[in-house]
Amino acid sequence: MSESSTLSQRSLLGIRGLTRADVDLIHATAREFKDVLNRPIKKVPSLRDFTVANLFFENSTRTRLSFELAEKRLSADVVNFSAAGSSVKKWETLVDTVNNILAMKVDMVVMRHPHPGAHHFLASKVEVPIVNAGDGTHEHPTQALLDTFSLRQSLSEDLAGKNIAIVGDIQHSRVALSNIWALKLLGANVRVCGPQTLIPKHLKELGVEVSHDLDDTIRWADALNMLRIQLERQGSEESVRFFPTLREYTMRFGLTLERLNQSSKPLTIMHPGPINRGVEISSEVADSEHSIILDQVENGVAVRMAVLYLLAQKRG
Ligand code: NCD
Repeated sequence: MSESSTLSQRSLLGIRGLTRADVDLIHATAREFKDVLNRPIKKVPSLRDFTVANLFFENSTRTRLSFELAEKRLSADVVNFSAAGSSVKKWETLVDTVNNILAMKVDMVVMRHPHPGAHHFLASKVEVPIVNAGDGTHEHPTQALLDTFSLRQSLSEDLAGKNIAIVGDIQHSRVALSNIWALKLLGANVRVCGPQTLIPKHLKELGVEVSHDLDDTIRWADALNMLRIQLERQGSEESVRFFPTLREYTMRFGLTLERLNQSSKPLTIMHPGPINRGVEISSEVADSEHSIILDQVENGVAVRMAVLYLLAQKRG
């Protein structure tokens, strides 16, 4: 565990800008907040007199609720904004929208935006810390922080040398990229597995193994992180374009109990949600004792509390 007590960054734009000490500090702080969340009174006054704006320019259920709960458990004041029904539809620019919100004395911005890099751009234009809650197909840092936190709690505190596979639509997944960075920082061996058409060509340059064989990956792995097929990012909500049919995808890359039983060791199964039951994961697996999917959701609040708290501290 590192000795550091502050983050190296003033915003959380991606895992890419973080150090190993940052990740350890966030996880250690999250452990303390997880204890708080299990008490009868789940609230601490850490962010009293602090206002956080949650700006969601893209759909979200879990991440948005998780951030809002984290903010409320820290006693922050919270304002919520979603692009639907806002002046974004009247051609207002991102910087103007955010500056107007900041003029109302907001201290921190949590944002989800469909454009990769939107957060980096905004961070160069405004003074307050920005937390990336997902930028298009690029990064989703708090998801990776909660995924690695969950793995450290359920698999092993030390992930060095552990074999972690990320399975599915790697190409369109911000969860995949952030998880790769985070797992590499923690010394894990990372493999991505999916159809050739859903794995970016240059991914090996990030130091990950690439496989197109789920059965082999099951035998290799200590944990599997199953991803959703991002149909909404494939240019069509109705038809699949990167493999022949969803049925064929499920036959090759869907995780079933029968397949899982090929492993000689107990595997940890993760999924960032929303799950497509019967596509990338069967109900039997999602609801089995292997699955830590709901632990991930629970841990998400504690990890986001840690991120908000540590960034607020940096602000002084
Ligand atoms: C993920 C996302 O939005 O990137 N979900 C989430 O944040 N819990 C993954 C997904 O949508 O499949």
